[in-house]
Amino acid sequence: MNHQLHNHSHSHLNKRIAVLASGKGSNLEVILQAMQQGSCDAQVSLVICNKADANALQIARAYQVPQVVYLNPKDYADRAAYDQACAALIQQEDCAWVVLAGYMRILSSTFIQTFPQQIINIHPSLLPSFVGAHAVADALAYGVQITGCTVHLVTEDLDSGPILAQTAVPVLSTDDHDTLHQRIQNAEYQLYVQVIQRLVSTPFHVQEKHVIWD
Ligand code: GRF
Repeated sequence: MNHQLHNHSHSHLNKRIAVLASGKGSNLEVILQAMQQGSCDAQVSLVICNKADANALQIARAYQVPQVVYLNPKDYADRAAYDQACAALIQQEDCAWVVLAGYMRILSSTFIQTFPQQIINIHPSLLPSFVGAHAVADALAYGVQITGCTVHLVTEDLDSGPILAQTAVPVLSTDDHDTLHQRIQNAEYQLYVQVIQRLVSTPFHVQEKHVIWD
């Protein structure tokens, strides 16, 4: 049995999740709601935020996430040191999964290698179109008629890890950034909860760019 498969056969039994967020936290809130309602049997054990005023912190506290931590990047010498502190918290809480929910920091390679095939992200476009931080604006500017959202495994190539799931969302001729982003976010809420539920209940392996559920 290779190391990664071995790792997964253990981690899929562990339903403890760490969520990393920087902003509004609406995806975090939907995940916490789904857990509370019993439609997702993952457990958010830890929320880490890199912004003191992020609404995600209020949401995590309101839902009584056991560990809610603000880590100020200015307190760390560099990205590696900051990510090391995050990794230590995630390991202390024994989380098997790291869920990025609007986390606006690049992760160091060491961090990504510490949690192989255990970090997921949601991106507001149909990847590989419109990578990067301005996916909604870029899709509008390009004039595509269909965009969407993508949940993918996080690898060292930005927004390019193996795809777990996607939802298509129409762009209307009347859309501005806010209306389109809201329509994409509504799709995100459903998709992220579904993927998280599957992750904590079904082992998978990765063959090149393909995620194969076992
Ligand atoms: C989402 O639109 C997601 O696609 C992007 O960041 C946004 C986070 O929103 N990666 P929220 O903080 O969950 O409300």
